[in-house]
Amino acid sequence: MKSSILISIITLLLGIATLGLGGYNVAATEKHWEITEKIIDWVRENSIEARAKHVDIPASFTDNRQIAIGAKHYAAMCTECHLTPGQQATDLALGLYPQAPVFHQRDTIIDNEEKQTQARKYFWVIKHGLKMTAMPSWGRTHNDETIWDITAFIQEISNMTAEQYAELITTYDGHHH
Ligand code: HEC
Repeated sequence: MKSSILISIITLLLGIATLGLGGYNVAATEKHWEITEKIIDWVRENSIEARAKHVDIPASFTDNRQIAIGAKHYAAMCTECHLTPGQQATDLALGLYPQAPVFHQRDTIIDNEEKQTQARKYFWVIKHGLKMTAMPSWGRTHNDETIWDITAFIQEISNMTAEQYAELITTYDGHHH
């Protein structure tokens, strides 16, 4: 009993010493082990799900005007990392780890309930950001209404052509950066 406690303490101290000597590589070019990645995904998914389920979707969600306004915000703030239909991956996007998802390559969700669940999650992530990734919190600088507009748009971007996207971002003249 006593010796197993001693072994645990020694192992822990050796672990701390290794980290103190720079043994862990924080480089973005150095991928996590597969098991570490699975654990991070699991933690992130559960964390988002637990918080997103308390998000109330506004009654006005979602209409074409909202989608067009959201598209403008998206064009101004998100494309460097999340890209747009027809766009080549940017240097910034290529260098990210974890990588930013490409929304226009995702399948459209047909089921209404699943779509609402996805909207709640998107809204929550856009508002709060994601720790230890490049995903910023936009809630610091943008109100909920704007974040719902962007949410409406990224749900709509699946399978959109470059032409449809270009048309959409010229529809409403709202946001300037
Ligand atoms: C500097 C790069 C960067 C910018 C700019 C950025 N994001 Fe992200 N975003 C990321 C990364 C990286 C992830 C993935 C994080 C992860 O895997 O945990 C992410 C994840 C997300 C997710 C979660 C997606 C999922 O997997 O379901 C949403 C939603 C999102 N971003 C929306 C946006 C929107 C909307 C904007 C603009 C208002 C934006 N992001 C701007 C880097 C960025």
